[in-house]
Amino acid sequence: MECVLDQGCPIHIGENAVQLADEIPLRQSCRNCVILCESNAANLILPPFLDRCPNLRKQPVYYLDSSESRKQMESLLPLWDAWVRDGMDRQTLVINIGGGVLCDMGGFAASVFKRGIPFIHVPTTLLAMADASVGGKNGVNLHETKNILGTFRRPEAVLVDPVFLQTLPRQELLSGMAEIIKMQFIANAEASIESIEEAFRSKERLSELLHFAIARKAEITGTDFEEANLRKTLNFGHTFGHAFEALALKRGEPIPHGIAVAHGMVCELYLSWLMTGLDRELFEQGLDWLQKHYGIFAFSPEDIPDLMGYMKNDKKNIEGKIYPILLSAFGKCRFDQAVPESLLEKTLAAYPFF
Ligand SMILES: NC(=O)c1ccc[n+]([C@@H]2O[C@H](COP(=O)([O-])OP(=O)(O)OC[C@H]3O[C@@H](n4cnc5c(N)ncnc54)[C@H](O)[C@@H]3O)[C@@H](O)[C@H]2O)c1
Repeated sequence: MECVLDQGCPIHIGENAVQLADEIPLRQSCRNCVILCESNAANLILPPFLDRCPNLRKQPVYYLDSSESRKQMESLLPLWDAWVRDGMDRQTLVINIGGGVLCDMGGFAASVFKRGIPFIHVPTTLLAMADASVGGKNGVNLHETKNILGTFRRPEAVLVDPVFLQTLPRQELLSGMAEIIKMQFIANAEASIESIEEAFRSKERLSELLHFAIARKAEITGTDFEEANLRKTLNFGHTFGHAFEALALKRGEPIPHGIAVAHGMVCELYLSWLMTGLDRELFEQGLDWLQKHYGIFAFSPEDIPDLMGYMKNDKKNIEGKIYPILLSAFGKCRFDQAVPESLLEKTLAAYPFF
């Protein structure tokens, strides 16, 4: 088992990492602890968790519907009511078990309850392991606008255990892979499309890239917790990706977050090629490769105003200007270049670029 430190927060990675949850409440000198589990996959994730943590079997379990469409403030009101009713206080530790939506919602619920109570994350999707559980961002959506209400607060610990990946559907594995690949694009100057492709063929390689993603995210968020500069690079693919995700949600056909980010990376590689002098070969290789694994996001010209509307609402915008993350090479990003709306529209009109 390996441990990466995200400032004060240990991220334990490897087989049996989850067993540490059995002792953490005692070590944190908390009066008691409760489990917050996503209801959607509870039958798949709670039994293996409790099998490995016998001391926690008698602890109260709260369930939350954490589908993306329910990632709203209202969904948390009954949970907070229950926490008040059950006398939870600042010495109660919350153990969040679930995918990225549950980690975001559970982290948010705990971080504002009584001005903040301690919590740990047990991520159960690849995406939550590689990304959502690391770095201390918690939040919910406001209607269709993603993650616009939230807090910065790190968990007491994160336990990344591959046991949960055994039941994860292929589409969700692909989604998590997208965030792992994003980290190769933005933070690994040695990366190549071939070296990324290996992770699709070998478990060991996937595990290496997962470790890389966690360690680099911890490092980046450690130097820039509140996203003043470097942390912005983690949003590569997200300006367009969030817009695609929001449109899909509005249509009632949600797509996994990482899949939307993969489509967004295609658009932001194109923009990078136009704006930063990104090597054409890298743009074309990246595009072919991403589209081979992730397909294309279908939308019509009539959807472009909606997509532009979502991008104009992006919480990273400054004074109404939109700042997608641009890549000039593997491991080299620009995060401070505003892109004119006309160019974003042109990118959408040119998508899927062949
Ligand atoms: N806070 C951050 O820094 C950050 C970073 C990236 C993404 N996010 C957020 O993460 C969310 C996406 O997370 P996600 O991709 O994990 O989606 P998710 O939480 O919706 O989980 C995906 C699906 O997998 C199911 N599931 C969970 N664990 C399972 C398991 N072990 N076996 C089988 N099924 C399981 C869930 O019930 C769900 O249906 C988005 O809301 C995104 O905004 C946050």
